[in-house]
Amino acid sequence: MPTSPQSPHLPFGDNIHTPWYGKDILSVKQFDRKDLDYIFGVAHEMHGMVDRIGTFDLLKGKILANLFYEPSTRTSSSFHAAMERLGGSVIPINNVKFSSVSKGESLADTVRSLECYSDVIVLRHPEMGSAKIAAAAASKPILNAGDGVGEHPTQALLDLFTIFSELGEGEIDGLTVTMLGDLKYGRTVHSLARLLTLYDVKLNYVSPDILKMPAEVMEDVAEKGIPQAEYASLEEILPETDVLYVTRIQKERFENPADYKKVADEFIIDPEMMQLAKEQMIIMHPLPRVNEITTDVDSDPRAAYFRQMEYGLYVRMALLAMVLGKA
Ligand code: CP
Repeated sequence: MPTSPQSPHLPFGDNIHTPWYGKDILSVKQFDRKDLDYIFGVAHEMHGMVDRIGTFDLLKGKILANLFYEPSTRTSSSFHAAMERLGGSVIPINNVKFSSVSKGESLADTVRSLECYSDVIVLRHPEMGSAKIAAAAASKPILNAGDGVGEHPTQALLDLFTIFSELGEGEIDGLTVTMLGDLKYGRTVHSLARLLTLYDVKLNYVSPDILKMPAEVMEDVAEKGIPQAEYASLEEILPETDVLYVTRIQKERFENPADYKKVADEFIIDPEMMQLAKEQMIIMHPLPRVNEITTDVDSDPRAAYFRQMEYGLYVRMALLAMVLGKA
């Protein structure tokens, strides 16, 4: 678990003067290292509370609108579980075809409607920039749960909390993080690469040629003076990697299915490949996976991707408590 984040109190009264009260969470660019220490401190406390008492009343009476225009298992259900663990309740809209969106209602009108019934809105939408549009329309906090190929900031926070928890905060500086797979369409790696620039890390990118990390992300990373390099083969840099972050090739974002087929199984992590990796390396994946990590890797203690999902629950509990003025 984290060794040094602050351990903030979790006040049970309203506290509208806390720094994150009423704030939107749209991009990882909003955070600095102090914020991360704070969030991870709260997430650590949430973990302890869930272990000790399961569900408690920190957000009793609060309502989350969980609005998903794209499929989701983890993000949707972990926000839902987070709100229920905190004693609040949820309006789940996981299939917009059964909402007034199917009648042509705009995103702005939809969030304006939902905020009449809720205190906070979690939004996943296929268009980049949609979370910002929703935040401009709404007066209640909007949490970006993925905006097209743009960002997935709460995923990046849970990814970093996973690294903190698995390897220890003191060890983030100096780590080599290798991102593998669909770096073009994978919004999780866009957010994580930017968030990692707050630390003294080295970033490696391994992808099919047509799915390279976008120039704008690489420019943001370069601006912060973080070393980064692109590779065509994983074998070359796996032995020096501390965190291997694997992503799925995002079939749904390809215009031409033949292009997807050409790159679908270009990189596969299996036990043989894992023999090249350090004993202390961790493998992460935002999930869902398709073929990029074989299931016989799951029993390797270095496979952190299922633990990563659980860390997400605690981070999302922390974020909900923060924007509702309870942490
Ligand atoms: N990691 C992630 O965003 O998973 P879901 O698409 O299942 O929410």
